[in-house]
Amino acid sequence: MKLLLLLLGLAAAASHAIPVFPDVHEVYANGEDENPLMNLGSDANLIEGDILLPEGRNALIDKRYRWTFPIPYILGDDLDLNAKGCVHQAFEMYRLKSCVDFKPYEGEKTFIKFEKRGGCFSSVGDQQNGQILSLGVGCDHKAVIEHELLHALGFYHEQSRTDRDDYVDIWLDQVIPGMEHNFNKYEDDFITDQNTAYDYESIMHYRPFSFNKNESAPTVTTKISVFNNIIGQYLDFSRMDILRLNRMYNCSGPLTLLDQCAFESDSVCGMIQSTTDDGDWVHTKSRPGVEDHTLLGRCRDAGHFMHFDTSSGPPQASALLESRTLYPRRKSQCLQFFYKMTGDPQDRLVVWLKVDDGTGSVRKMSKIHTFYADSDHSWKIAHVPVASTVKFRYSLQAVRGGATPMAGATPMAGAMPMAGATPMAGVYVDDVTLTETQCPGAVWRIQNFSRVMETADANTYINSPPFYSAEGYAFGVSLRPRSGYRDYTGDYAGLYFHLISGENDAVMDWPAVNRQARLVVMDQDPDVTMRMSTARSLTTDLTTMADGRLLWDDPSKVGTLDPSCSCYRGASWGWSNFVKHFDLRRRSYLKNDDLIVFVDFEDITSLVKTEVPIQPRPV
Ligand SMILES: *[C@@H]1O[C@H](CO)[C@@H](O)[C@H](O)[C@H]1NC(C)=O
Ligand SMILES: *[C@@H]1O[C@H](CO)[C@@H](O)[C@H](O)[C@H]1NC(C)=O
Ligand SMILES: *[C@@H]1O[C@H](CO)[C@@H](O)[C@H](O)[C@H]1NC(C)=O
Ligand SMILES: [Zn+2]
Repeated sequence: MKLLLLLLGLAAAASHAIPVFPDVHEVYANGEDENPLMNLGSDANLIEGDILLPEGRNALIDKRYRWTFPIPYILGDDLDLNAKGCVHQAFEMYRLKSCVDFKPYEGEKTFIKFEKRGGCFSSVGDQQNGQILSLGVGCDHKAVIEHELLHALGFYHEQSRTDRDDYVDIWLDQVIPGMEHNFNKYEDDFITDQNTAYDYESIMHYRPFSFNKNESAPTVTTKISVFNNIIGQYLDFSRMDILRLNRMYNCSGPLTLLDQCAFESDSVCGMIQSTTDDGDWVHTKSRPGVEDHTLLGRCRDAGHFMHFDTSSGPPQASALLESRTLYPRRKSQCLQFFYKMTGDPQDRLVVWLKVDDGTGSVRKMSKIHTFYADSDHSWKIAHVPVASTVKFRYSLQAVRGGATPMAGATPMAGAMPMAGATPMAGVYVDDVTLTETQCPGAVWRIQNFSRVMETADANTYINSPPFYSAEGYAFGVSLRPRSGYRDYTGDYAGLYFHLISGENDAVMDWPAVNRQARLVVMDQDPDVTMRMSTARSLTTDLTTMADGRLLWDDPSKVGTLDPSCSCYRGASWGWSNFVKHFDLRRRSYLKNDDLIVFVDFEDITSLVKTEVPIQPRPV
C-alpha cells in the first residue's frame, strides 16, 4: 500500500510538472501567424484581405470557374520547406473529406502555382490559365492553406454572403480607414450559398478583430453572441464547408475514406459475425456506468458499441467481427478505433487482415496486431497500419483469456464475483475508421485533462515520453496546459516539439534537418470527415543557438538531462497559442476527458526541389 501511495504521489508530481525543462521557444516570436489572412503589409492587389483581385468578372455561380480534378499544382522553390509540407497536409484533408484531388503539373493549361509572396492569398475559382496561390510568412499552417484553397475552388468569405447582416454586425466605424472594402458583400446572382445556412464556424469566416483600428473594439460581432468566440476558427473545415464543397463539385464521397462505423445502427455498417467461432460480439446499448465511445453517455438511451463478454465461458472462447469487402486505391491504410478491455489480463483483441488470395476470393488471413487487457479499463485509441493493394476485409477478434471462472488472475480474484465487481467484463469496440492515410507516428494521451487545465499555471509543463520516428529519431512534445497566452476567448494550451536522445543516435544523421514535425490535437468526433483536429508544423533546419551550437543536433550534445526519463531533451519549439481552452471544451476534443495528441517527425527532403517550369503541352 505504501508503495502504491508513493507511486501515486510521483504520478501527481509528474503531471504538475516542476519545469524540469523550461527551454521552450515560440516558432512565431512576433505573432506572425496570429491572423495571417489579413495581409496588412502586402503590396499585392487584394480584396477582402486575401483574395487576389480577378482580372475579369469572376462569379462562383459561373461554371467556367469550376475546376476539373485532379487539379495540377506546382510548388515553387521560393516556398519555405515547411510550407511545402503543409500544402501536402492540406491536400490530404481535401482527399479525406471530399472528392477534390491534386496532381503534379505536367504541362496542363490550368494549374495552381504555390509561391512565397507578401502574405497568404489566392484568386477565387479556376482562372483557366494558371494562377498563383501565395504562402508568405506565417501561412505554413494546414488550416490557412485549406482556406486559401477554398478560395481557389470558388468560395468567398462567409461574411460576404448576401444575407450576412442577419447574422453579424459589421462595425465599419471601427475599421482601419481605407480598409472598408474588405467587408464587401455580394449579391446572390454572384455567389451561391449552395442552399446552406449561414455558418459561424466556417473556416472562411473573419475573426472579430479583423482590420480593426482599436485593439479592444471588434469590427465583426455575431447576432448570437456565443458565436463571437467561434468565428474565425482555424482548426479545420466546418461541417458546412465540407457540405458546400461537396455540393459545388458533386462529390459522391471522399477519396481516401474506406469505411467507418460508430455502431449506432443495428446493421453495424455491414459487418458480419463469423459463424465458425464460439460466440458473437453483441451490439450493445449504453447504460449508466457502461457507456459507448460515440456519445459517451451524453444522451440517455442512445449510443451503441460492440461487446464480447469474457466474464464466463470456456477459455479461449472467441468472436470474430468481419468488415464488408473493401477496395483500396492506395497501397497503405490506417485502421483506427476505440477499445476498452475490462476483463482478465489474458483477454485479447486481435486484428486480422483477410485479402484476395489471387483467385478473386478474399480468404488469405494474416494476424496484424494483438491488444491485451491491462489495469486501465477506460476507452483507448488504437491505430493499426494495414497495407493492402488488393480487395480485403479487416476483422476484430475478441478472445477470452482467463480460465473458468475468472480465477488465477490475481490472488483475490477467486474470492470476488468478477461479473459483479467489473460490470460487463470483456472487450469493447467503438468508432472504427479505416482511411487510406498514414497512421500517426506517435500517439500521446493525457487523461483527466479538464482538471489539468484548471490546476495548471503558466509554469506547468507536461513532457511526453520519448517516441521514435520511422527513421529512428527519438522525439517528444511538451504541453503547457495553460501557456499564458490569452485572448478574448480565454486561455490557450501550448504545444512544443523537441528531439530526445535515443538508442539509434550513434547511427543517425546529425543535425536532423529537413524533417517536418507535425503536431495534432485530435477532435474525437466519430465521423472522421467532421473532425476538426487542429495541427501545426515546423521543419528542422541549420539554425544555430545563441552559443553557436546547432539547434537540431544530437540532443545528448546540445540538450538538457531529464532525470524522469534518463534522457536528454533538446530545446522545444512550438506555439503558446496551439489550441484555445474554449475550443477544447466544445466539440469532441476532450471526450472521456482525454486529450489525444498525434506527433509525426518525417523526412521531407524530397520536397526541397519541387519547382518545374511552366511549359504548356502542345495541344
Ligand atoms: C477603443 O475601444 C474601447 C472599447 O470600446 C474604448 O473604451 C476606447 O475609448 C477606444 N479607444 C479609442 C482611442 O477610440
Ligand atoms: C454538378 O451536377 C449538376 C447537375 O447535374 C451540373 O449542372 C453541374 O455542372 C455539376 N457540377 C460540376 C462541377 O460538375
Ligand atoms: C482521473 O480522475 C479520476 C477521478 O478523479 C481518478 O480516479 C483517476 O485515477 C484519474 N486518472 C489519471 C490517469 O490521473
Ligand atoms: Zn480568405
